[in-house]
Amino acid sequence: MTSSSLYHISFGRDDLGSQPPTIALLSGDPERAYLIAKTYLQDVRLLSENRGLNSYIGNLSNGRSLLSTTSGIGAPSLSIVVNELVQLGIRQIIRVGTCGSIQTHVPVGSIVISHAALCRQGAANDIAPVEYPACADPFLTVALVKAARELDVEHYLGITASVDTFYEGQERSDSANPHLLRSLLGITEEYRRLNILNYEMECGTLFKMAGVYNFAAACVCGVIAQRTSSEHVLLDYKDVAVNNAIAVAVRAVEGLEQNLG
Ligand code: URA
Repeated sequence: MTSSSLYHISFGRDDLGSQPPTIALLSGDPERAYLIAKTYLQDVRLLSENRGLNSYIGNLSNGRSLLSTTSGIGAPSLSIVVNELVQLGIRQIIRVGTCGSIQTHVPVGSIVISHAALCRQGAANDIAPVEYPACADPFLTVALVKAARELDVEHYLGITASVDTFYEGQERSDSANPHLLRSLLGITEEYRRLNILNYEMECGTLFKMAGVYNFAAACVCGVIAQRTSSEHVLLDYKDVAVNNAIAVAVRAVEGLEQNLG
């Protein structure tokens, strides 16, 4: 931590070295941020571990500097982290997350690449009008698809429902809340018919922030629940889903470097 540190992420420009990264992989889970750093980065340095928002800096095998950092769960936490990352000069952010499929043809273990989100998130309403589009950067999104093809990872490209709550908002009835609001009963089936692929909790706000702040954002999530058959996360598939999402995100960043020459 230096005098230039931003309050929540707890590092600043002075910590980023002479060639500061402009791209970040943003995981919800600090363990995932660490896994990315440990597995794919060379010369890794821990930047901070404030409030579980752990951040690492290192180099990819092609020498490109990369930030692997943590959003925490949900849009309010993500909005704070993303705001501070952009203040530090980050211009491209790929969310690497997990999700629940709401389509029978999207199985656990596969990945979903979101080209847009149905954004049902309160944090986003502080940033842009509710009607403001929540869309991913097309170039980063194509890079993710290309990476998934190269790595032969089963992937699906489409629209994601990005909501504030894991239980009520994703129509889970097996929880501490005995009373799901009428407005949410049947919402999963409605979204399924609208060709929405999956539920997660961050990318809608990330995409709207990208539009307003003028940076590029994309999202890749490993599928860890199949909501057409069960409410539960299938832990046996979590590692493969997460490793697929990470591998695709890293390969996409490496591809961007090659494209830029
Ligand atoms: N993350 C979510 O938001 N929902 C799921 O079902 C799984 C992961």
